[in-house]
Amino acid sequence: AQDVQEDLSHVLLSTEEVQATIAELAAKVDEDYAGKNPLIVAVLKGAIMVVADLTRAMSSHVDVDFMAVSSYGSGTKSSGVVRIVKDLDTDLTGRHVLIVEDIIDSGLTLSWLKANLESRNPASVEICTFLRKPDAMKVDIDVKYVGRDIPNEFVVGYGLDYAEKYRNLDCVGTLAPHVYS
Ligand code: PRP
Ligand code: MN
Ligand code: MG
Repeated sequence: AQDVQEDLSHVLLSTEEVQATIAELAAKVDEDYAGKNPLIVAVLKGAIMVVADLTRAMSSHVDVDFMAVSSYGSGTKSSGVVRIVKDLDTDLTGRHVLIVEDIIDSGLTLSWLKANLESRNPASVEICTFLRKPDAMKVDIDVKYVGRDIPNEFVVGYGLDYAEKYRNLDCVGTLAPHVYS
């Protein structure tokens, strides 16, 4: 048992449910990308757990690269204006790119990122997200692979943080009120 788990008020996805969701995503991605040697683009930091487990659950060849992005302007994400903090090392020309994210909230980060990667002459760009909050989305994005749709609540664990903490939980849950006070 992990001590950080005591800070959860409700477990939304147990460890078993997390891994079952990953297995389902991996099977679909494997089938669609067989023989294509896709480039998996993981978005730091939230996607670290998803990319580690997803790629290990796959049997096809994949390449993996990382990007770090940050919102700027008002300091909130609402502008949808994004800055690249760490860019890819990989040339995307002719590549089948699969962006891997932990969660789509407003969708603004991914909407910007997908357009940015599409401008680099790839063969294709698709999105695989572990979680999605349909009620929080502010933009329409075509998302090919969704692990689970969840309610519009603040969740942590499995890469998702609250003030940089809780990423190392192997389940996903909501924080208990005592954590905020
Ligand atoms: C979180 C999450 C997604 C993004 C989703 O990242 O990991 O990348 O926000 O939000 P959106 O759909 O409203 O754009 P965050 O900016 O917290 O950085 P982190 O991954 O390093 O925690
Ligand atoms: Mn993120
Ligand atoms: Mg975060």
